[in-house]
Parts: sequence; C-alpha cells; structure tokens
Amino acid sequence: MLDKIGVIGGGFIGGVLVQELARRRLARVVAVTDPAPFVNPNDPSEKQAVVRKQSVAQGKALDIAEGAPLIGSDVVLQASRDYDILDGCDMVINTAGVPRKARADGTFPSREELLAINLKVTGEVADAIRKHCPRAMIISIANPLDAIVYTLYKRLGVPKSRLLGMAGVLDSARYRYFVAQEAGVSVENVEAMVLGGHGDTMVPVRSCCRIAGMPVESFIAPDRLDAIEDRTRKAGGEVVGLLGFGSAFVSPALSALEMAEAIIYDKKKILAVCCLLQGEYGVRDLFVGVPAIIGKNGIERIIEVDLTAQEKNGLALSADAVQKTCREVDKLLRT
Ligand code: LAC
Repeated sequence: MLDKIGVIGGGFIGGVLVQELARRRLARVVAVTDPAPFVNPNDPSEKQAVVRKQSVAQGKALDIAEGAPLIGSDVVLQASRDYDILDGCDMVINTAGVPRKARADGTFPSREELLAINLKVTGEVADAIRKHCPRAMIISIANPLDAIVYTLYKRLGVPKSRLLGMAGVLDSARYRYFVAQEAGVSVENVEAMVLGGHGDTMVPVRSCCRIAGMPVESFIAPDRLDAIEDRTRKAGGEVVGLLGFGSAFVSPALSALEMAEAIIYDKKKILAVCCLLQGEYGVRDLFVGVPAIIGKNGIERIIEVDLTAQEKNGLALSADAVQKTCREVDKLLRT
C-alpha cells in the first residue's frame, strides 16, 4: 500500500480508477483533481455562481466514499478542482484530456487529432507534478498516448524508469480477449503482447501469442488471426463508434491498475509499456510500447524479444508514426 496516489482527471477513466484504487486499497489516500465543469463567462451570473460550486472530482469522490462502507474500505478519498490536492503523491495516474468522440456523421478523430488540445492540458499537468509531487511514479493514459508521454518527459525530465505510458497492456488485453473468444478458451489461458505506438500501426506479436503455452497457430487459422489482429489495431475506435459519447474507459483503467499493482507489489511483471527507448529495437529518444519488467522502481528492464522480420518491420513503421507525432509536439511546444 502506498501513502498517496493521485488521479489527474475525474472523467470516465478517472472515476473507474478512483473506485478501484479504493476497493483494492492500493493507497491510504487517493486524491482526484478535475477542473470541470467550466464556468461560461457568457452565462448569467446566477448560473455562473452555481457552476462555480460544482466539481466533477468532488462529486465522484463523494459518491465512491459513500459506497466505501459497503466494500469495507477505509481509503481516504480527497478531491478538488485544483492540482494542489496532488501534494505528496507517491504515484500519479494521468488521464487529463479530451477523449475521442463520435462525430454527428458517425466518424471519429484519430488519437493523433487530439494532440493540439490535449497538449495544453499536459503542460498544466507537468507543472502540477513538478510543483506538488516531483518524485511521483507517473503512469499516463491520455491520448495521443505516446506523444503525451513524450511531452511529459520533455517538460519534467524525470528518470525514464519513473514515466510509463499505458497502452500495451490494454492493446494486449484486447488481443487476448479476441483470441480467447475465437479459440473458445479462457482468457486466462491466453498470453499475448502488442508492441509499438498506441495507434493504427500497433503490432500484435503473433510469435509471442500462446494458449496455455502452446503456439496460437495450433488453435486458430492464419486468416482468422489476421482478422483478429486487424480488429485489435482498431479496437479503441470500435468502442468509440459504439458508445457515441467518448472512448473506452473500463479496460483502460484496469490496464493502468495492472501497471500500478506491478509497481506497488514489486511484482517484476513483464508488461508491454510505453517507455523511453535509447537504441533498443533500433529506436532512439522516442516513447514506444515494448515489453519491460515492472517493479517498485518502475521500468526496471526493457526486454528485447526476437521478432519475425515482418514484426520487426511493423515495429519500425509504428515507431516512425510515433516520431511523426512527436515532431509535431516539438513544433507545438516551440510556439
Ligand atoms: C482506447 C483509448 C483509450 O484505445 O486510447 O480505447
């Protein structure tokens, strides 16, 4: 159990995180911050006064706290519209930013299209972490995932072991789920890994996919695996299209908690995590998803697995796509 975990953003992912952190008793104190709802200066002053008293973070925290007796959790829940609630956190989970949302015509933006808007809030998040909890372990979920983690690194300069992007765990969970469904076996039997950026170029690594230790190809035909891998790459968008109001929020929160527990319990668990590569997999100075050992020190060791030529090629293309978005970040940070 840590002393204090901060959740930045009280949206859908933030809500599941706070609820689960309390239920699993992962910290003595869980603090959540979110500036919403926003006061519209064009509204009548009475309405502005009402909105000024509202707080999504405080509302969600109170709701969860009032359920605490029913789950027997004495975790202290704190909430605020301000970042100062993050004072002294040992770990922060960053969800701040707008999610992908279906447009009226049913299409939706790519994660990369969220960059400009989410970069601004990421700057505020970085300032808040520097001021209130500079030594915290950081797990970031906000999109575009790899570019936001890169931005946090550029703004904070924290040791690379302490900055982890959550995407590979989620993408791998989706791959595992689809494989389990197709093979008609328990999800517990399926091991899989998805590497690369958290975008349409991500690389489901078939050569690492096992069902109870046996190669996945012994259970599923190659054309069905092609279809599963294609669905995995687009799985975030599939949920966005179905929900209509935003993006997936339960599975992303559970994925971040998988990483948090690996750190809190010093599990030395191998997970696909977005981390700073400095030559591994032929990639330099970019945050890209690769397998790593996660323990109390965060990213303790990056694992370089043997990939097939096709997978290697896929990973290089995915790293190129991440690089393109990061050059965009560099440009936006200069302006
Ligand atoms: C997804 C979003 C959270 O993949 O990136 O569902």
